Amino acid sequence: MCGIVGYIGKDQAAPIILDGLSKLEYRGYDSAGIAVFDGEHICTQKAAGRLAVLEHMTRGGESMKGFSGVGHTRWATHGAPSDLNAHPHTNKKGSIVVVHNGIIENYMALKKKLEKRGYEFTSETDTEVLAHLLDYYYKGNPLEAITKVLHRVEGSYALGILFDDCPDQLFAARKDSPLIVGKSEEGCFIASDVPAILKYTRTVFYLDNQEVAVLRKDNIEFFTVDEEPIEKQAVTIEWDADSAEKAGYEFFMLKEIYEEPKTVTDTISPRIKDGEIRIEELKFTDEELKNIQRIHIVACGSAYHTGVTAKYVIEGLVRIPVEVEVASEFRYRNPIMDPEDLVIVISQSGETADTLEAVRESHKRGLKVLGIVNVVGSSIAREADSVMYTWAGPEISVATTKAYSAPLVALYLLAMKLGRVRGMIDDALFARLLEDIQALPDQIEMLLGQKEKLQHFANRYVAAKEVFFIGRGIDYAIALEGALKLKEISYIHSEAYAAGELKHGTISLIEDGTLVVALATQPELFPKTVSNIVEVKSRGAFVMAVAERGRKEIEKVADYVVYIPYTNSYFANSLAIIPLQLFAYYIAVGRGYDVDHPRNLAKSVTVE
Ligand code: G6P
Repeated sequence: MCGIVGYIGKDQAAPIILDGLSKLEYRGYDSAGIAVFDGEHICTQKAAGRLAVLEHMTRGGESMKGFSGVGHTRWATHGAPSDLNAHPHTNKKGSIVVVHNGIIENYMALKKKLEKRGYEFTSETDTEVLAHLLDYYYKGNPLEAITKVLHRVEGSYALGILFDDCPDQLFAARKDSPLIVGKSEEGCFIASDVPAILKYTRTVFYLDNQEVAVLRKDNIEFFTVDEEPIEKQAVTIEWDADSAEKAGYEFFMLKEIYEEPKTVTDTISPRIKDGEIRIEELKFTDEELKNIQRIHIVACGSAYHTGVTAKYVIEGLVRIPVEVEVASEFRYRNPIMDPEDLVIVISQSGETADTLEAVRESHKRGLKVLGIVNVVGSSIAREADSVMYTWAGPEISVATTKAYSAPLVALYLLAMKLGRVRGMIDDALFARLLEDIQALPDQIEMLLGQKEKLQHFANRYVAAKEVFFIGRGIDYAIALEGALKLKEISYIHSEAYAAGELKHGTISLIEDGTLVVALATQPELFPKTVSNIVEVKSRGAFVMAVAERGRKEIEKVADYVVYIPYTNSYFANSLAIIPLQLFAYYIAVGRGYDVDHPRNLAKSVTVE
């Protein structure tokens, strides 16, 4: 979704802002703009399309001189992607400039009132209302004008604001949309996400809801929405700067797939001590864990798919009933929940609007929430009662890979911990699980070694029109993610089906040459899935199967087989997903697409 970068300091602002925006491209956008204060006026440039267009217009920022400015990449919600709708938006005189991420829900009502007072609107956006409202309230005190506006608007916002008669200040505010503030020797920054400013500083402050920051070149002040000054603690970002760079890979997605063994290790190893699972961040007593009656897992997209897997793992190992639901459904369903239930929300960004709302809904009902989150200090991390961070580092490619694998293993650890506390996992089983979970990073590494084989196979299917993914049990959960990965980046229609459901409709779509990816990693379900493979084969399908090493018999029915090393069947997803991610990647590369920036998609969905 939209990206914001702002700078005020000793250096030229425009190149820093454009560089920062390029680091936020992964979030998804369709236009970009920048405003720089040149000492007398605020100059604004904006353009529909890629950031490269804006970079070209401004000669990489060279043509916009000045030491403070704001920039924005817009993902269209209100109004088409166009030069006019691109941010920054300004008041009529161009003396107040705003960039905004989020949605102003009452913008229509505010717009009508402003129009009655003679304000003219030039764009279709909700954001423009902010520029005019600031103009309306501005009587020489910018902080007062900003807080008055914040009291009037409903919805979500991360804001960067400049006033041309306050040349030494840059203003920021947020509610329900991410925004960080950074400080270095050379100046101060605002940004939607850490990678945008990582090159310049590691010292950041996380703005909380309805807080305002006033940045000068060498200091930052924070205020509540009622103009009360507040103290905020700086946080040091531990990521190394290279983690937000491509490091020689053609696309971030491939780099991030290659980081999966490390990501899985980083998520697992700090939580295994002296042969036991220790999840120190879990702020629940053993008594509370024993009393959990039901678990509700709520998430979106790929994070939801990790939840589907967790349902099988937790129900299988711990025998606690688990409901798993996409957050956009959960929040409006009036779900039946008991105060002794546990809610688990899973989110890479920690900012997904629907998932965040699920946290709040659960709190309203008196339930405790465990967040499994990647981005440190994100909204979900701050609002959940306990947080298990996944330590996957920055994930730049829109299609998630390492940030899918990390919560998966966090959920296995949680299941093992629950099973231990509740006496459902005996010592022998626990020892086997422990050994198997610790073997996963090396096994993933081994699977990555098959990259060329998969590339070769993918090249044969570059022109596929549709692909079906089938599986049973955990294999079905893997199929869901495999199909999503492929459709996201290759634009090939792909669907996942519980293999046993095929006969109830989907099999009518199978014809000569249709590619079917069959997941067959679950020993107990293996013969059933083999029967389903036979069914699609006899209707002309070409079958790629993913099976456990040693299951040679599958070669009699499938046309192409990828074997995964032996693991406990509960953990098979962590291995089987690797060939599916590589397969999707190479198909998209083969079709010539910009793998890291798939059309219409955003990395972090901060609006409903
Ligand atoms: C977007 C991303 C997906 C992601 C989903 C949930 O749709 O493109 O890759 O799985 O949001 O995001 P979250 O940050 O909550 O995991």
